[in-house]
Amino acid sequence: MITFDKETGIFHLKNDRYSYVLQIAKGKYLLHRYWGKPLRAFRDSRPLQALDRAFSPQPEAERGERTFSLDVLPQEYPAAGHVDYRIPAYSVRLSDGTTSTELRYATHRIEKGKPRLLGLPSALAEETEAETLVIRLEDTAGVLAAELSYSVFADSAILARSVRLENTGKEPLDLTGAASFALDFPEQDYDHVALFGGHASERNVERMPVTHGVYSVESRRGASSHQASPFFALARKTADERQGEVFGFSLVWSGEFAFRTEAEQFGTLRLVGGINPEGFRWHLAPGETFQTPEALLAYSSEGFDGMSQAFHTVVRHHILRGSWRDRGRPILVNNWEATYFDFDAEKLDHLAECAKNLGIELMVLDDGWFGKRNDDNSSLGDWVCNESKLAGGLKAVAESAHRRGLKFGLWFEPEMVSTESDLYRAHPDWALRSPHYPMTFGRNQLVLDLSRREVCDYIVESVSKVLTESGVDYVKWDFNRHLTDAFSAALPPERQGEVKTRFYYGLYDVLERLTSRHPEVLFESCSGGGGRFDLGILHYMPQTWTSDDTDAIERLKIQTGTSMVFPPITMGAHVSVVPNHQVGRVTPMQTRAFCAMMGCYGYELDITRFTEEEQAEVRAHIALYKRLRKTMQLGTFHRLVSPFEGSGNETAWEFVSADGREVVLLYFKTLATPKTELRRFFPVGLAADAEYEVAEYYPAKGLSHDGAGNKGTSLKGCAFYGDELMQSGIEPEKIDTDFAAYLWVLRRK
Ligand code: DGJ
Repeated sequence: MITFDKETGIFHLKNDRYSYVLQIAKGKYLLHRYWGKPLRAFRDSRPLQALDRAFSPQPEAERGERTFSLDVLPQEYPAAGHVDYRIPAYSVRLSDGTTSTELRYATHRIEKGKPRLLGLPSALAEETEAETLVIRLEDTAGVLAAELSYSVFADSAILARSVRLENTGKEPLDLTGAASFALDFPEQDYDHVALFGGHASERNVERMPVTHGVYSVESRRGASSHQASPFFALARKTADERQGEVFGFSLVWSGEFAFRTEAEQFGTLRLVGGINPEGFRWHLAPGETFQTPEALLAYSSEGFDGMSQAFHTVVRHHILRGSWRDRGRPILVNNWEATYFDFDAEKLDHLAECAKNLGIELMVLDDGWFGKRNDDNSSLGDWVCNESKLAGGLKAVAESAHRRGLKFGLWFEPEMVSTESDLYRAHPDWALRSPHYPMTFGRNQLVLDLSRREVCDYIVESVSKVLTESGVDYVKWDFNRHLTDAFSAALPPERQGEVKTRFYYGLYDVLERLTSRHPEVLFESCSGGGGRFDLGILHYMPQTWTSDDTDAIERLKIQTGTSMVFPPITMGAHVSVVPNHQVGRVTPMQTRAFCAMMGCYGYELDITRFTEEEQAEVRAHIALYKRLRKTMQLGTFHRLVSPFEGSGNETAWEFVSADGREVVLLYFKTLATPKTELRRFFPVGLAADAEYEVAEYYPAKGLSHDGAGNKGTSLKGCAFYGDELMQSGIEPEKIDTDFAAYLWVLRRK
């Protein structure tokens, strides 16, 4: 997969989806030459042109060459402030105050497999699954070295990149920026695509033309955040969901990040991605190293669908781990929107009984079971059961679930502390805060200093104790505010710029220890919904609560946007009550259920209050989901109609089972339209010459125009060849109701 030609200095990284080509120019400069569809060989059909560019530094001038300038050449890991004015990949401050460095090619090695990144999550691969190129660059003054790592996977259109920087000098230095990758594109006529959002409205797809200047998608919140997802794509102007080139990027990292592009004077485009350099400073003593997080680069010549397939494959096979990686996830009921803080043992027992009767498999007890917590003002950090609320303790609640054959899940928010807690009273210095200013609260809580080993130990031991003693099968791990005043009482002044990065080293260490101690526990991460939905967290916790917005119509967008990077098996999605608690909307139960079935399915409402009719409907949905779970969670997912395109009034999703034998189609029409507007949609990924029978069909519930119920043509029982379904499409029956949802199950004959 990786070859090196000594004569031309060309590295060709290749699988059956892409070629990525680098070149060592003049024996020392590492340049980027090509990334796109696979090439038989790279023989340099467009050699780099030597031009004397005004106002561009000329590093070879002393050797009589004015036409070689790193300010215009495509580079792989450009330095700041020396011979290139474009956005740098890294920047350094040496002990004498200077900031120039020159990294030049020294050596390289090609290895089978993919080495792990020390202390950081990363995509994992066996020896046969990937190949890795490590190129070592050394500074000409001997103060710095960088090892650039490139891993090519056999099974996906992904290239993994990361960098390890080392102080090779005799004096300490400060890294003031250390990106995971940089890439120069030869043209600028792309659109950039990002996922903007906010709390309860995460991951909205936004597409805009690249314009001159610097554009940044970033988080400065001490977390990957609701506001900007750690994802960025460059798409050809003509690319759409099914065709055209798309270059996608994501980080295996949960902290602050930045993807910055610069469309510059000569018509090229630079992209740099990694930890946000703003506020970052890492002190390196002689001999010390700094490892950047890993970036995953996805190449697609098949539009956004191709890009998402690349990400979904790498997530499913190389990011997720552990006993739950390939297992269908249990259907849960969570008591949060059912009871909030107002519950006791009796209520939970009743909930467990109803859950069992409906066919639910896991009962989750959310916030409020510990310390003296009856609202969100106290007790975070005191992970001890509040027995005055739960007589008999957690063990009794767990037993009430287990006795009925249900699994038992529990909520924690271990990275936080309330000032009204025993933990804070004992260790006020364990919270991040400025020594000079009043504490800054968010949800009336402070963030613990996870850069300290003793804080991480406390979290591991206190959480682990509860898991073991109470028999917990599932953990919901929440994180309900962002970082401010990231000052650690335990670090010297020159290391304070490291706190927000060390916080995640601490969190990853905690999660590594807890998940290996409790390998059977299913962890679901959460940050006020999907505020930390990223590949770093997914490496430890294989599913994430997608959003605090549980309204089905809002979720059509949130889940579609999330699917740009993350496969359905990573998305928590629940049926909630109507009127919905976030937007007050009233939608049919079927619509709420079909929308939630796209992810890890569950209920988050008071199931003890269901009428007989509702119970019957819910039982049927649960039975349907159990039948389809394998296809929907472990199959291939496609967006067929996006709510971010066209009128935004329609959404359609498709799931194809791993063996291609079962296909589930979901179609949603948000608002009824007055004209008889019949719109077809087109399944994809079927075998053109195979016959598919419409085995199950659930039309939207509502009235047809004559007021007599659904009268449209049901295709149930009919069989069609794949080519007809894909080319002529499927047309949902007209229905005069808002918030309509349809589901088809096709079985290959
Ligand atoms: C925020 C989460 O997103 C909710 O689901 C719930 O767990 C609350 N926190 C509890 O405080």
